[in-house]
Amino acid sequence: MPGTAAGRGPAGGGGTAGGGGTAGSDGPATSDGPAGSGGPTQGAGPAGGTGPAGGAGPVGWREAAERALYGPGGFYLRERPANHFRTSVHASPLFAGAVAELLVRVDRALGRPPELALVDVGAGRGELLTGVLAAVPGEVAERLRPCAVERAPRPGGLDPRIGWRRELPGPEEGLVGLLFANEWLDNVPADVAEVDERGVPRLVLVDPDGRETLGPPVTGEDAAWLHRWWPPAPEPGTRAEIGRTRDVAWARAVRALGRGLAVAVDYAHTRATRPPLGTLTGFRDGREAVPVPDGSCDLTSHVALDACAEAGRHAAAEHGARGRPAPADARGGGRPVPAPDRGGAGDDSRSSARGCEGGRDGGAACPGPAGGATAPAAPSAPPPDGEPAPRGEPAAPAGRPPAAVGGEPAPPDGAPPAAVGEPVLVTQREVLRALGVTGERPPMALAARDPAAYVRALSRAGAAAELTDPSGLGSFGWLLQPVGTGLPASLASVLPSRA
Ligand SMILES: C[S@@+](CC[C@H](N)C(=O)[O-])C[C@H]1O[C@@H](n2cnc3c(N)ncnc32)[C@H](O)[C@@H]1O
Repeated sequence: MPGTAAGRGPAGGGGTAGGGGTAGSDGPATSDGPAGSGGPTQGAGPAGGTGPAGGAGPVGWREAAERALYGPGGFYLRERPANHFRTSVHASPLFAGAVAELLVRVDRALGRPPELALVDVGAGRGELLTGVLAAVPGEVAERLRPCAVERAPRPGGLDPRIGWRRELPGPEEGLVGLLFANEWLDNVPADVAEVDERGVPRLVLVDPDGRETLGPPVTGEDAAWLHRWWPPAPEPGTRAEIGRTRDVAWARAVRALGRGLAVAVDYAHTRATRPPLGTLTGFRDGREAVPVPDGSCDLTSHVALDACAEAGRHAAAEHGARGRPAPADARGGGRPVPAPDRGGAGDDSRSSARGCEGGRDGGAACPGPAGGATAPAAPSAPPPDGEPAPRGEPAAPAGRPPAAVGGEPAPPDGAPPAAVGEPVLVTQREVLRALGVTGERPPMALAARDPAAYVRALSRAGAAAELTDPSGLGSFGWLLQPVGTGLPASLASVLPSRA
């Protein structure tokens, strides 16, 4: 999805991106608020005053979002994501069906291990795992160890086979299988930089009511990240989201796998298509909203998925030496991520296995090493049918290039397929089609022969069309990171080559 920020900004016509930049650019905490406005929506506190306690004074967006989304009473601890926006998981059971198909292929590529892990990172309320469990063949389901990694508590009534934990499994658990993260990384809080009058990128600070001011110049690892992945243009007011936290999070997720495939799906951009004004926005009650870090709304920004890919590549390489040789159905292939030009995205942190809530509410324990089962645009109107809006989908202004991920420059013809362990970046449309999800309409002959079947097939085609829409969910980036193996050959061979 193109990471546009055109017109985005706090209510009142001022704003950050596109609105002339942040006011008070001579220093932090001037309380001037966004230029030309009284600041974002007033009184937009969390429903019932249950939101996180706001700290005094402005902080960077990373800290503000961390507190607003995941602090005590935070948005995601309190709210069901599906009540506020639509992801592919909510859009249609076809998506879970496609993930089930991917899982089956990964299982085959791994040589059908006795315990097959399925880790859903940022699992929401477990909808995807529930759908995959319903869709996989019985023989796979018997060996499957599905586990959610989610900061929100385990929902009541969840299938007891599904484990639930707050933190990623550690590398020592050596899980074998598929790790899947749909629209997780965009919710990993990131700092925001804005270029000041002198052309210097400075940290954007924000008050709990959304008022922004410019803080100190961006330095250290954040400056290095910007320099490498998202050097903002020197014009005052240009913005960039510092994706280092997402790189770190993704590397940690990749390390959770001993062997298998890690997949991140999100609205994304790559170096060639960074949005000059950033993409930070909010969602509340099914519509896009001014981003206010008070716990009242979702806070999200598009993901620099190429940077994550590089971090994941390093993480997988650490594991590579430990992995067994790939079985016959595991091959390199697909579209490799372009080689980096310098540096490395390091992360030395390791997650622990703390926080596993397996067994609670009758739920299964999380997979373990030995025992397996034991262990945008301005706020927009809601869609006409009242369905929550998908995030990250606002169309790019006319004339903008389409999806960043699919728009990567092509390598020379005849380039070799990605080597084992290499990350691959493709669009959702490409992957889902490779997994058999197409928007093809059923033949009219079926309508005459079996009208009910025709209607079912038509509805399925409609759902598939939404999931693969090149100007919507179909443009989302899929980052595929094999760990200790290659992509399943059956997938590698059908993913489009660059052309
Ligand atoms: C946009 S929702 C996506 C939910 C689901 N994957 C879907 O596609 O419908 C993002 C979810 O990620 C969770 N999340 C964010 N950071 C997390 C973390 N570090 N560990 C576990 N869950 C996290 C949030 O609590 C939230 O439920």
